[in-house]
Amino acid sequence: DWSMAAFRAQAIAQIRAQVGDGKVICGLSGGVDSSVAAVLIHEAIGEQLTCIFVDHGLLRAGEAEQVVEVFRDHYNIPLVARDASDLFLGKLAGVEDPERKRKIIGATFIDVFEEEAADLGGADFLAQGTLYPDVIESVSFTGGPSVTIKSHHNVGGLPERMRMKLVEPLRELFKDEVRELGRELGLPDKLVGRHPFPGPGLAIRMPGEITREKAEILRKADAVYLDEIRKAGLYDAIWQAFAVLLPVKTVGVMGDARSYDHVCALRAVTSTDGMTAESYPFDHEFLARTATRIINEVRGINRVVYDVTSKPPGTIEWE
Ligand code: XMP
Repeated sequence: DWSMAAFRAQAIAQIRAQVGDGKVICGLSGGVDSSVAAVLIHEAIGEQLTCIFVDHGLLRAGEAEQVVEVFRDHYNIPLVARDASDLFLGKLAGVEDPERKRKIIGATFIDVFEEEAADLGGADFLAQGTLYPDVIESVSFTGGPSVTIKSHHNVGGLPERMRMKLVEPLRELFKDEVRELGRELGLPDKLVGRHPFPGPGLAIRMPGEITREKAEILRKADAVYLDEIRKAGLYDAIWQAFAVLLPVKTVGVMGDARSYDHVCALRAVTSTDGMTAESYPFDHEFLARTATRIINEVRGINRVVYDVTSKPPGTIEWE
C-alpha cells in the first residue's frame, strides 16, 4: 500500500531524528500495537533498541511464551522478559476502584521500565505503542464535555523526575492503520490479526478485588472461550472477545450437590476503531456450548452470561 509505505519511511526518518544515537527501551505487551512499534523502531535504529516484556500476572494464557518466541527467536530483537507479578499484584491487593487500578498499573509499569533501563546501563527513551484512540479516550469523550472515561495505562506522559523521553510513533494511527503498517513491515498475520488486549490486562476484567486465584480462574475461562471462537471460525469476524469474572456468587447444582461460585460474563464486539462497538450476535448453540465447557472445565465458575451492550452506552471493557 502506497500510503503505508510512505508512512513507514517517514516514521523511520522521524525516529532517527528524535533518537540520534540514544538508547531506547520499548515496552512490549504481546499485542499488535507495541509489536508494530517495536519492529518499526528496530528497523529505524537497530541495536539501540531493547524490548522489555513485563509479566504483571494479569496476562492471558500462554501470552508471555508467545511474545518471547516472536521477538527473541523470530525477530532476533534484544528482549528482556521480567516476571513482575508479585510487585503488581502486591500493589493492587485490596484495590477495587477501576481508575485506581489503572493508575497503579500505569505507575508500576514506569517503575519497572526505569529499573530495567538502569540494569541496561541507562536508556534515553521509552517507546510505547500508543494509538490515537488511546489518547483521545483518556482525555475526553466524543462530542461531550471534557471528561475522563478511562485513564489508559500508557497515556499521560512520564513523571517529571524521569530522564527518559517518550517515543510514540503510532500516536496518530487508528487500529486498522496499525495492522496495515504491521503487514507492510512483514509481521505474521497471526500477530497482526490479534484481538486488542489492554495494558492493564485481566485487572480490568475482574470487577472488585484482584487476586492471583481470581486471575487464574479468569485466564482459564478466557482460554476456553477463545478456543471455541477459533473452532467456530469466528476469530477474525470479531474485533475483541474476552471473559470477565464477576464478584458475584450464585447458587447452582453440580451433579447432585449444591454449588456456590462466581459468575463469568462473556463479551464479544465488532468495531472498526474501538470507539464504538456492537455486541457480536452469536447463535444460542455457540453460547450454550461455550457456557457448558467453561462450567465443566473451570473450577470456581458455575454460571455464564453474555453481555449484549453496545458502545456507547457501554464500553468494551467492564472497567
Ligand atoms: P473501552 O473499554 O474504553 O476500550 O471501550 C476501547 C479499547 O481500548 C482498549 N483499552 C486499553 N488499551 N490500555 C490499553 O492499551 C488501557 O488502559 C486500555 N483500556 C481500554 C480496550 O481493550 C478496547 O480495545
